[in-house]
Amino acid sequence: MEKNLIIAITGASGALYARHLLHALCMHVPGKSSVIISPSGLRVCNEETGTNFRKDEEYLQWIQESVSRKSSPVHSFQLEDYRDIGARSASGSNSHDGMAIVPCSMKTLASITHGITQNLIERAADVTLKERRPLVVVPREAPYSLIHLRNMTSLTEAGATVVPASPGFYQKPESLDDLGRFIASRVLSVLGIQVRLFKPWLDESPE
Ligand SMILES: Cc1cc2nc3c(=O)[nH]c(=O)nc-3n(C[C@H](O)[C@H](O)[C@H](O)COP(=O)(O)O)c2cc1C
Repeated sequence: MEKNLIIAITGASGALYARHLLHALCMHVPGKSSVIISPSGLRVCNEETGTNFRKDEEYLQWIQESVSRKSSPVHSFQLEDYRDIGARSASGSNSHDGMAIVPCSMKTLASITHGITQNLIERAADVTLKERRPLVVVPREAPYSLIHLRNMTSLTEAGATVVPASPGFYQKPESLDDLGRFIASRVLSVLGIQVRLFKPWLDESPE
């Protein structure tokens, strides 16, 4: 069945998690998703990957080109403007299969937790919760303050799932990409999408 998701990228460290999530969707999950990138998300991506994207479109083009070098994409993306609080994802009548915020800054996490909707990412998350649709956040900070911990607890109580940006090492990752695939796979699994991005623990079958 085709999947229709909302993928948001904010300014926490961990741009590679977003890249692997979008790659996995493109390569393995038929459907169409909206993508929203905060200005800080684009900035942190540039800092971490050595790119110099000025516009969200350049980022998405980079993702799509890297996928199409390997296979034909089965998932398409529609960019929505972070500032456009009237975009499709802002509406409760936009039926979708879930929203993932990867990575999720503590600022965006705090806003959603407290019902503050000052941009399209926060609004779409607020609407996703009120419509009782799946919301997954991948926060990153170290160490956590009590405020961060309380916000994560409240957001979980409100129905969201917190997938910490803490990849497992029992699969013996050989690269940063392996770590990215681990988190992407966890996010998709919470959204009910099983994609084999690496060999599962205790799985004896060949790759
Ligand atoms: C290089 C860099 C790394 C950052 N890493 C984190 C981080 O890991 N976690 C976090 O919560 N904020 C981090 N920030 C700060 C956020 O980008 C900042 O709070 C921003 O206002 C978040 O806005 P957004 O949620 O709209 O993307 C980082 C900023 C920069 C420039």
